Amino acid sequence: MDTGFTEAVDATAPKLTVIGTGYLGATHAVCMAVLGYQVLGVDIDPHKIERLAAGDMPFFEPGLPELLVKALDSGRLTFTTSLDEAADFGDVHFLCVGTPQLAGSYAADLRHVEAAVTTLARSVRRRALIVGKSTVPVGTAARLADLMRAVSPAGDSVELAWNPEFLREGFAVDDTMRPDRLVFGVSSRWAEQRLREVFAPVIDQGSPVLVTDPRTAELVKVAANGFLATKISYINAMAEVCEASGADVHDLAAALGLDDRIGRRFLRPGLGFGGGCLPKDIRAFMHRAEELGVGQAVTFLREVDGINQRRRGRMVDLVRELAGGDLRGVRVAALGAAFKPNSDDIRDSPALDVASALHQAGARVRVFDPVAIDNARRACPALEYGDSAFDVATGADVVVLLTEWTQFREIDPAALRTVVAKPRIVDGRHALDPARWREAGWEYRALGRP
Ligand code: UDX
Repeated sequence: MDTGFTEAVDATAPKLTVIGTGYLGATHAVCMAVLGYQVLGVDIDPHKIERLAAGDMPFFEPGLPELLVKALDSGRLTFTTSLDEAADFGDVHFLCVGTPQLAGSYAADLRHVEAAVTTLARSVRRRALIVGKSTVPVGTAARLADLMRAVSPAGDSVELAWNPEFLREGFAVDDTMRPDRLVFGVSSRWAEQRLREVFAPVIDQGSPVLVTDPRTAELVKVAANGFLATKISYINAMAEVCEASGADVHDLAAALGLDDRIGRRFLRPGLGFGGGCLPKDIRAFMHRAEELGVGQAVTFLREVDGINQRRRGRMVDLVRELAGGDLRGVRVAALGAAFKPNSDDIRDSPALDVASALHQAGARVRVFDPVAIDNARRACPALEYGDSAFDVATGADVVVLLTEWTQFREIDPAALRTVVAKPRIVDGRHALDPARWREAGWEYRALGRP
């Protein structure tokens, strides 16, 4: 993969560590090494580290496996499980550990972030910058900075900054190399300078830098995700109104999107948002706002979450309607399991949620997804799985499109019709052309369309 960058980083450039090699960390480590930096990737999971060091990407992300091999071949990317080693190696340490939703609460689980910062800080003996990239509730950096200073032998010469990451799965490489913006939440001029050095190739290529305090930087990320989630739920709320009134949300979204002030991106109606970020981030935001005594300012996010969850239930209802009012024994072909295309991520996936709900209602569900199928099988072993869209559709009473993979959008409706028992399709992602499917003899239904 040609990244369009030359490796223009010289020997005096800061040495980097990336702590936590999940989605965010692995991408960041690989991209920084490709840009020319010496990078040490750190994770507590030895299995993950072994795979990465062997050039084997533990998750699906277009373009990243090739860049991992390129980075390893350059000799600039190495991996370890030792934070002690990381403390010796790095001038700048990027914190990329997960902040999942805490079980039984809306709050973010900050244990991994706290553990990583304290363990690392205990070993740091020289001037260093720790840069948080994980999504955290506003005020976390200030608390971590106190923790860090209390335990580090280097005392005040270790500093903490926050640099939120906005990468989207499926576009992770491009979003890292050419982000819309870089946000530096810093407490000193020195920290800003260090970050400017570390991101020099990205800045030179044209990404704007916004320098602010760590609190604002933390908030930018959750506020952005809250906005995106709201935009999706807004159009899905309009879909509910369309369903009740007989209007067409697809045309409505197209007309709204043509207004420059609104814009068409993130205005695609359908099954709603899922994944490892938006759902848990808006919940953690509500929780944090409550703690700060301003819960009311974001109570609308509860509605955003509620609208989003209702889409899944409505999708099941639509399949039931199409099947004649009872799902028991109905053969359903579920196209898609990932929370969105170009990803093998099934965390809080609307697709898998709908497939499971159909199964629980008595339907015989067969699922196919081009890359998320193994993850889906592990998470939902009660569902049946097939080898292709045509395989799962064979003998089906209803086909449901749950994740808008290109290969599903390109299915020839006439050819698919020859294998199903009944030509009925519910398009959960507004990804198909209704006229084309109807012409081929299908009964076509979509959320929010007559
Ligand atoms: C998101 C943010 O976009 C990213 O900036 C942040 O760093 C992490 O969270 P990601 O989870 O990879 O990224 O997915 P994204 O492309 O934002 O999609 C989120 C969900 O919204 C998907 O389930 C997608 O299907 C859904 N979606 C998106 C819609 O339903 N309609 C839309 O118009 C857009």
